[in-house]
Amino acid sequence: MTLDAAIERTAARFARASTARASAGYVASKLRRDPAVAAIAGRAPLGDVIDIGCGRGQLAVLLLESGAASRVLGLDHDAEKVALATRAAEGLSATFRVGDARAGDEGEADTVLLVDVLHYMPPDDQDALLRLAASLVRPGGRVLVREATTGMGLRTALTRAAEHVGVALRVNRGQVLAFRDVARELVPVLEGAGLRCAVEPCWAGTPLANVLLEARR
Ligand SMILES: C[S@@+](CC[C@H](N)C(=O)[O-])C[C@H]1O[C@@H](n2cnc3c(N)ncnc32)[C@H](O)[C@@H]1O
Repeated sequence: MTLDAAIERTAARFARASTARASAGYVASKLRRDPAVAAIAGRAPLGDVIDIGCGRGQLAVLLLESGAASRVLGLDHDAEKVALATRAAEGLSATFRVGDARAGDEGEADTVLLVDVLHYMPPDDQDALLRLAASLVRPGGRVLVREATTGMGLRTALTRAAEHVGVALRVNRGQVLAFRDVARELVPVLEGAGLRCAVEPCWAGTPLANVLLEARR
């Protein structure tokens, strides 16, 4: 199945599962416009995936619909989003759980995703979660981190502004907003855990400072 067809199937699942039209609209637009979707699905096969901070689970469902992932465990501390993810994934090889990502009892996987999650935590917690993610990855597997990086001038400023609006509108919960330099601050943590890292832009078509960090075991 093409990625576009998998996106449409995933959007249709969320249209059926959503109790609020805005939520279904958000998911469909995110799938169609976020460059992380193609960047991550394009790394197939991803095998067993743990999606930490999965939100509504649209990326996890898309990865199953496209055949990029064989099984997915999603974790998020927002019970409403987890409930929506669970309904949307009906019949797929997916489990979604409510919990704090930092609790760390997820088992192991071929691919661990941290997509737009770290900046909602203080730096020490980010480092601990990166080490936890690294410890979950099987040999040959990878951690994929999509984050906004500092040091990108206007892109970083616009990302910060958009995130502050999101937290103010309660679109996303977070104790803090802590953006960091991905190459200088996150890469050393994963390399210290024995992974090989590469960072690439992941902002196509947006004014944001998002990058994708791939860390392989
Ligand atoms: C911007 S959303 C990204 C969701 C999803 N990864 C995506 O790409 O659509 C950030 C998510 O991280 C979750 N989150 C933040 N801190 C968390 C924590 N400590 N434990 C579990 N989930 C957390 C939030 O509830 C939210 O759903």
